[in-house]
Amino acid sequence: MASQLPSNVLIFGATGAIGKYITDAIVLAKPNVASRVSIFTSPATASNPDKQTILSSWKSRGLSVITGDLSNADDIRNAYNGIDTVVSCLGRNALASQIELLKLAEESSSVQWFFPSEYGTDIEYDASSKDEKPHQNKLKVREYIRENLKKVKCTYVVTGPYIEMYLTLAPAAKEAGGYDVKSRKAVVIGNGDGKVGFTSMPDVGKLVVAALRHPEVSMGKVLKVQSFVTTPNEIVAEFEKQTGSKWTVEHTPNQKIREVENEKWNANDPIATLYTLRRIWAEGGTLYDKTDNEILGLTPGDMEPLSAAVERAVSGKG
Ligand SMILES: NC(=O)c1ccc[n+]([C@@H]2O[C@H](COP(=O)([O-])OP(=O)(O)OC[C@H]3O[C@@H](n4cnc5c(N)ncnc54)[C@H](OP(=O)(O)O)[C@@H]3O)[C@@H](O)[C@H]2O)c1
Repeated sequence: MASQLPSNVLIFGATGAIGKYITDAIVLAKPNVASRVSIFTSPATASNPDKQTILSSWKSRGLSVITGDLSNADDIRNAYNGIDTVVSCLGRNALASQIELLKLAEESSSVQWFFPSEYGTDIEYDASSKDEKPHQNKLKVREYIRENLKKVKCTYVVTGPYIEMYLTLAPAAKEAGGYDVKSRKAVVIGNGDGKVGFTSMPDVGKLVVAALRHPEVSMGKVLKVQSFVTTPNEIVAEFEKQTGSKWTVEHTPNQKIREVENEKWNANDPIATLYTLRRIWAEGGTLYDKTDNEILGLTPGDMEPLSAAVERAVSGKG
């Protein structure tokens, strides 16, 4: 059975930050990854003028758009009709709604495979992971799956941080680290030599397609994948090389990250999530002896290098 999948794919959150890359990769995959690809979205997104270019380009390649309310069970049941594989790219605010989507998938007569929205930090990296606040909704989804799903098999694509987002310097969270091309300034955590595993956003799409192409190895698995491993200082060096100028580098002590992180959580400031994730990444929470890239048939040469992401950031296309 597994080798016949996927045939009829439904994507949630297709026009979101990472959903765009995943949907693009699925729609553009050669040879086709499935015979039919649909997205489920709200009427507001489907009619949003800013989303028309991407929706039209997908539709011209055969993608179907199903509109409905994510919280309406009948809308989901109708959307699942004939679907065998679901790829969820829902955003953080909608992660908990996946529990109902999974329940309805289990009840449906056709859905067999489900990719919950992960595409980020490893939420079961070590014993401390279970207490990290940003992980809680994804952990609840995994727990629901473990305890309730029998027919539907799930695949989690764990990519670590997106290099494109890491390369930006959020004005409201400078101590959390980042890179500002305009002012040639970087803020790095600790001494800047700590290794971090990254995935580029186009590579997230490539990795999801590879997982879809290899149900025999990816079904029921937590896939730990990434584009490359580098350090904050190596990123500075790449920016200096590509901009032909020396950058100013500020350091945020690791302890300072923890202090600001606690302050932000105590103040209920949503930026706290960024501090927690950056602290986890700086402490090595993205590193593996071996990733699952290879079992998906991907070699280091298939993945984007740091230089490609830095090039996009320097040219303003990041
Ligand atoms: N590794 C990293 O560095 C990193 C960074 C960011 C996110 N992530 C992960 O990637 C996944 C997707 O995040 P994202 O930032 O791409 O998501 P996003 O852009 O915030 O949202 C994705 C889509 O989810 C749907 N959605 C969002 N909020 C909703 C709500 N309240 N009700 C109904 N639908 C809602 C929308 O779908 P429509 O398009 O249909 O309207 C939206 O486009 C998450 O698991 C997140 O943790 C990882």
